[in-house]
Amino acid sequence: MDDNKQAAAVAYTDTVVRQFSLMAVVWGVVGMAVGVFIAAQLAWPELNFGIPWLSYGRLRPLHTNAVIFAFGGCALFASSYWCVQRTSHVPLFLPKLASFTFWAWQVVIVAAAISLPLGYTQGKEYAELEWPIDIVIAAVWISYAIVFFGTIGKRKVRHIYVANWFYGSFIIAIAVLHLVNSAAIPAGWMKSYSAYAGVQDAMVQWWYGHNAVGFYLTAAFLGMMYYFIPKQAERPVYSYRLSIVHFWALIFTYMWAGPHHLHFTALPDWTQSVGMLFSLILLAPSWGGMINGMMTLSGAWHKLRDDPVLRFMIVALSFYGMATFEGPLMSIKTVNALSHYTDWTVGHVHAGALGWVGLITMGTLYYLIPRLFGQKKMYSVPAIELHFWISTVGIVLYIAAMWIAGVMQGLMWRAVNTDGTLTYTFVESVKATYPFYVIRVTGGLLYLAGMLVMAWNTWMTVAGGRAVRVPVPMPQAA
Ligand code: HEM
Ligand code: HEM
Repeated sequence: MDDNKQAAAVAYTDTVVRQFSLMAVVWGVVGMAVGVFIAAQLAWPELNFGIPWLSYGRLRPLHTNAVIFAFGGCALFASSYWCVQRTSHVPLFLPKLASFTFWAWQVVIVAAAISLPLGYTQGKEYAELEWPIDIVIAAVWISYAIVFFGTIGKRKVRHIYVANWFYGSFIIAIAVLHLVNSAAIPAGWMKSYSAYAGVQDAMVQWWYGHNAVGFYLTAAFLGMMYYFIPKQAERPVYSYRLSIVHFWALIFTYMWAGPHHLHFTALPDWTQSVGMLFSLILLAPSWGGMINGMMTLSGAWHKLRDDPVLRFMIVALSFYGMATFEGPLMSIKTVNALSHYTDWTVGHVHAGALGWVGLITMGTLYYLIPRLFGQKKMYSVPAIELHFWISTVGIVLYIAAMWIAGVMQGLMWRAVNTDGTLTYTFVESVKATYPFYVIRVTGGLLYLAGMLVMAWNTWMTVAGGRAVRVPVPMPQAA
């Protein structure tokens, strides 16, 4: 059934979906603007102006937190709340608790935006926020789980659609990861010490970090893929059986791959090899899922020609395929010996982040926003088209520059003369990287410009929608 007709039949709880969708656009602009700024600082370090809270070390975690938890997070809340209601044929369980998840999540984001530039950090990547904020995150997450699984619990259809399995695994996994990795002994209001020490601390952190990639940046967005691509393409999922195999294989394999972040460290060698092995195996479910998503279009490929929203989604899948080919490659120890510490890693990250996470989110938001605000389509379809092209060119500039810079750095650092001395000093490799940093700034600017176009288009759509939903009364003739 058409989503809007279905919404009329069941009174869905969409206010919270509207709030999260709009904030995803707002935080997208903020997080990417900080990304462009830190990219510029790497090219022109004077841009920290000698001000501590503008320094690179403080703004970098602000960027990662803003794009992952604020932009990505708001989009995941919005899309999962939309999907679980439509596939269960019931409104959200405990709508007030759902509303709490929105407001408390915004509090977490604002607390991050204040505390990170002030220099408060636990020093764990993607888990920087100090313990009082961690407690609010835990409260939001438990509430999210209650709303999501409560809605599934009162569903009117027997079957639980596969997208909900992906969203559900993300909600459970992130709860477990957050609770275990953030365990710390407070030593003041904004200071704490990790409950773990030494190599155990590192392993717990990268078990967390890798599964944050696996469940947050991957499984959850695959939930988006399984609901919104078939909807936008008006075709059923290519193979439902493959989607089930995809789900179990992916969630089983991801959990073991974390040690590939700790190659050549004090972590026992066999643990590193287990991480590498599972990373290689991970290629199969990842590509199985990508193919399932793409083949959903089989017989309807022509739709890509004139539907820019679908194009966002399908190109996102191509970048997903690229990042999940590259990841297993980089997990091989001999390859990692070259790639680790270089910008190759940053290129890999952004192939996944800009290409996969960013584009699938934008496609989904373009699907949701008109429907949420009583419109047939976005205010300007050519603006979506423009957004698609500038962001795609931006991604290509960003990741190609980082790949070249990364491989170059790795090769320069390992080059030795016949007498065994290093061929290049470190500073020489920094100087050689400079042009690539400038190219990255250009790519980032294009990607940010696309996001600004989206913000404008959203504004115009919402403004038009309000006019449609609240008709202005005609003045009465005297
Ligand atoms: C305008 C777009 C963006 C620009 C210009 C940008 C720029 C940057 C820069 C300069 C860094 C630091 C790299 C380093 O330390 O060497 C970074 C790190 C990072 N960014 Fe972005 N970024 C953008 C968008 C995004 C988005 C949308 C996401 C996620 C959805 C994202 C996720 C990350 C992550 C996870 C890291 C840490 C990478 C690592 O530790 O290896 N970025 N970004
Ligand atoms: C089959 C799937 C994947 C595998 C096996 C994989 C593997 C890897 C490897 C080996 C590294 C480098 C570790 C190091 O040298 O420090 C890495 C880094 C990273 N990958 Fe992936 N990757 C995969 C997919 C993805 C996807 C789809 C995304 C994003 C959406 C992503 C995000 C990241 C991030 C954020 C880092 C940087 C972590 C950090 O050091 O801060 N990966 N990945």
